[in-house]
Amino acid sequence: MLSLEKQLNLKIKKIFQSFDFDEKFAFTKPSDRPDLSDFQCNGALALAKQIKQNPRDIGQKIADKLALDPDIEFVSVDGPGFINIKLKNTFIAQNMDDISNDEHLGISKVDKPKTIVMDFGGPNVAKALHVGHLRSAVIGESIRRTLSFAGHNVISDVHFGDWGTPMGMILAQIILEDGDLSKVKTYDIDAISAFYKRANILCKEDEEAAQRARLITAELQNGNTEYYNAWQHLRAVSVAAVKENYDELEAHFDLWLGESDAHQMCGQIVKLADEKGISEVDDGATIIRLEQTNKPMPPVILVKSDGGFGYQLTDIATIKMRVDDLKAEEIIYVVDKRQSLHFEQVFKVAEMLEIAPFVQFKHVGFGTVNGKDGKPFKTRDGGVMNLKDLIEMSKEKVRSSMPKPGEVEGYGNAEIEQLVSQVAMAAIKFQDLKNTASSGYIFDLDDFAKFEGKTGPYIQYAIARINSILRKAEQNNDTPSTVLIEDNDERVLALKLASFENVITRAANDKEPSIIADYAYNLAQIFSSFYNTCPIMGASSDALKASRLRLAKLTRDTLEQALYLLGIDAPEKMLKSNN
Ligand code: ARG
Repeated sequence: MLSLEKQLNLKIKKIFQSFDFDEKFAFTKPSDRPDLSDFQCNGALALAKQIKQNPRDIGQKIADKLALDPDIEFVSVDGPGFINIKLKNTFIAQNMDDISNDEHLGISKVDKPKTIVMDFGGPNVAKALHVGHLRSAVIGESIRRTLSFAGHNVISDVHFGDWGTPMGMILAQIILEDGDLSKVKTYDIDAISAFYKRANILCKEDEEAAQRARLITAELQNGNTEYYNAWQHLRAVSVAAVKENYDELEAHFDLWLGESDAHQMCGQIVKLADEKGISEVDDGATIIRLEQTNKPMPPVILVKSDGGFGYQLTDIATIKMRVDDLKAEEIIYVVDKRQSLHFEQVFKVAEMLEIAPFVQFKHVGFGTVNGKDGKPFKTRDGGVMNLKDLIEMSKEKVRSSMPKPGEVEGYGNAEIEQLVSQVAMAAIKFQDLKNTASSGYIFDLDDFAKFEGKTGPYIQYAIARINSILRKAEQNNDTPSTVLIEDNDERVLALKLASFENVITRAANDKEPSIIADYAYNLAQIFSSFYNTCPIMGASSDALKASRLRLAKLTRDTLEQALYLLGIDAPEKMLKSNN
């Protein structure tokens, strides 16, 4: 089925064809002035330039023909030649019926699905996930769900940071403290993280220790079996720990590959760069110099002077693997925007090496999560905030506004805890996703979990309210049926529902979940005004009641889908404590 917007575009296109006008100008968009019109077409202006005629005259020609269409309420030509269009209520109502009968909410899938590899998460061995990892997981997962919903074939890869200098630092620290690596297999994630912390401090103040760590890293990468066996344990323990975190965040990864998996390919890339004559040896390191643009473009270090492979090389090699093995047509990286130079360099070298000639690259760079002081969010004692602790803090906050287990029938400890978790995650994720990804935001522990305002729980609440209306209707044997649009609030709600496809398309094209977050919030608000002026169970006729029930159900389904795309669950019922 076609969305309202697409049906209208088709009508306009036919009119353009009938006049032999260039079709590329034949499209409309939702009106900037919803008080005046539903859609507008600005094509007459551009067309007038092309064929050197008066834009208002052309606009009028198109408008006169469009006005004859039985689905159109009125058309006017305004200003220099804007065509303003208002649709007939019956046309909108028919679309609502069509959408309710469609299991994909009337949203068509892309014509040409692509294989898209998404690189997000980016955890590191021996480091607990911290607040900085939150955004990559939350934004990445939302984009992953949105692109899949739009019809693409998406493959997500966590791209574990498991092959850099920190590996040598941990191994060196264990050797320093234990004498050898014999006890490695007994260490859990906390012990390993603690070794890493001590190694970090030591290597900062002691150049010799740092040098030892670099050497061990290079030997590990070159196949030293003792180091390799110990490293395998470090990696396995770390993967298990972060899997728990990502499960709680409901971030899904198809692949659990890491930098280490690109090792073989790294060697081949170094060879390829040499064959192509684009690399050179500089001070013992193998580097590629990049063309200078208007901002400084430092050279890419493929192999460091100690023989270790650099971070950029692993990303370049991983591109080749994603193209060769996964047939990637697009690769999206959801990584802190402070790494944007890194990605520009990596994409540039991929181009120079011609390893991914038809692949589109995109770095979705996000800003930092800040505290009230505007600086990166820290614990009270100034340390980095662990993701686990942040989630626990949020749950604590939500728990305090919930009834105690046993206070509400059917809600024991397990049910309350599940609800607490769903609401806390909604609060955390929505607070993140309502901001454009590239800007940072202040983590607000006071307001983020409120049921009013632009929050995740507000939308969960709106859904639960509609669920309760639908339950009542069902008990009454009232069923949703044919939509009738009479009241203006019904019209506004229906048009908003009809625009969901446009929202999905924009969010997918721009890789911008905040477009969906905005939409969900506005839709919930619009439903609430509709509900105030248009009683459902108390509607003046059965036909009107059935129509409003259908609109309510469609709103619920659309809100649920929007939340799903943001990675947020919608509980059937919500609870609030009375005090
Ligand atoms: N592990 C890296 C870090 O913590 C992030 C990895 C991002 N992804 C990538 N393909 N480079 O900084």
